Amino acid sequence: MTHRLVVRTALLLLIGGLTRVTAAQAPPAAPSPASRPPAVLTDEAARRAGDNYQRYCALCHGRDREGHVNDHAPSLRSKSLLESEFPVLGEAIGYGRQGTPMGGYLDEVGGPMTRQEIGDMLRWLRKTAAVEAIDMGNHSLDRTIGDATRGAAVYAQQCATCHGTKGEGGTGTALGNAAMLALTPDRFLRHAIVNGRQGTPMPAFGGVLSKTQIDDVTAFLRSRSTGSAAGKRTLRTPPALADAVINATGRAPEFGELKEGRYLSAAALDRELKAKRRMVLLDTRVTSMWQMAHIEGAVPIPYYSRDVTLAALPRDGTWIVAYCECPRAAADSVVKRLREDGGFKNTAVLYEGIQGWVSLGYPVVAGDATKPAATPAKP
Ligand code: HEC
Ligand code: HEC
Repeated sequence: MTHRLVVRTALLLLIGGLTRVTAAQAPPAAPSPASRPPAVLTDEAARRAGDNYQRYCALCHGRDREGHVNDHAPSLRSKSLLESEFPVLGEAIGYGRQGTPMGGYLDEVGGPMTRQEIGDMLRWLRKTAAVEAIDMGNHSLDRTIGDATRGAAVYAQQCATCHGTKGEGGTGTALGNAAMLALTPDRFLRHAIVNGRQGTPMPAFGGVLSKTQIDDVTAFLRSRSTGSAAGKRTLRTPPALADAVINATGRAPEFGELKEGRYLSAAALDRELKAKRRMVLLDTRVTSMWQMAHIEGAVPIPYYSRDVTLAALPRDGTWIVAYCECPRAAADSVVKRLREDGGFKNTAVLYEGIQGWVSLGYPVVAGDATKPAATPAKP
């Protein structure tokens, strides 16, 4: 293990991220504590996680977490996988991996497990493998700079036999999976490439390929994520709130009744966007996440930006839909503020959050793939 290369990475997301988002949030807007999984695994929770594992996961990942029992399900034992305290793991379990046999286990998408149980499952997997999660810093924007064309050649020579010529997967995971790539930082990919996955066919390329080759192949993988450009990342100026209305000449969306008076499903949002309905989409995550991938047309208004004036938003009853990656805590806080401080009535929160949206196969674009705003965002 090259610990020098062990990376501290962060997205404010799912299981691990939920706690972080709520901690950074202003107290009045905090979501109900019931949605916050405790950080420690009790004996009782460990026993249940073990039972759940055998019931739900052993079929493909193996009774002993060894992997590759069915459908090329990866090993859930390897240190380099489990130590990456990564949303991708929670997402993979909760929402599944679109286009692969890995389904979603979260009750919200029709699965059998609660968010708490999925959190406990991850803690149990780590505990059983005696792996500590790596603390996360904030490097979600950290894009590898490499030459995707040269990377394609490395891929064809070194990776395609296991991961498929088109990244469709085989012995190895589906690396061309847009859902996985859209929300996976380069550091996660690099970590797997450099260190391999112990106890699985995935070799460590740290001593085999040069650093440049690893950068190139990472850039190549990245080049295939939804709407994402390879190479050096250019930060874009997000559109101003005043330009936030999507389909300005369209009719009002018909969202139907909102769950708990607030929540809108990904399917309904997709349907109304496709029908070119007039609305505002607010991305309430940390702005770096907007740069990485967002729903087209969304304007960032991070949950912590209490100083941002809401005056620029339309006052004519235009629907305003907020989303985050938590999947709801940050968006809930912004919508609460819109309703209580701003008097905005037609507001909703995307129930599944953006990771649910992506995992369910709905499109996103990257910040650097969109047209730069003509005018910089107002401070
Ligand atoms: C029907 C077979 C099947 C079942 C059952 C299943 N998985 Fe998976 N799982 C897969 C496959 C296949 C993949 C790889 C998907 C891909 O190519 O990205 C995967 C991927 C994963 C990953 C991501 C690993 C990585 O390398 O990124 C995790 C974590 C995971 N599964 C956990 C679980 C857990 C926990 C359960 C039980 C709650 C479960 N899986 C049940 C087939 C399955
Ligand atoms: C001999 C087969 C094999 C080769 C060759 C191979 N891989 Fe893998 N790779 C795997 C397997 C199997 C896994 C899943 C490991 C597990 O069970 O966790 C994997 C996992 C990965 C992952 C983690 C994906 C995730 O969702 O967690 C990345 C990234 C990756 N490989 C990149 C590469 C790259 C880039 C190359 C070429 C330089 C390569 N691999 C070559 C078999 C291979």
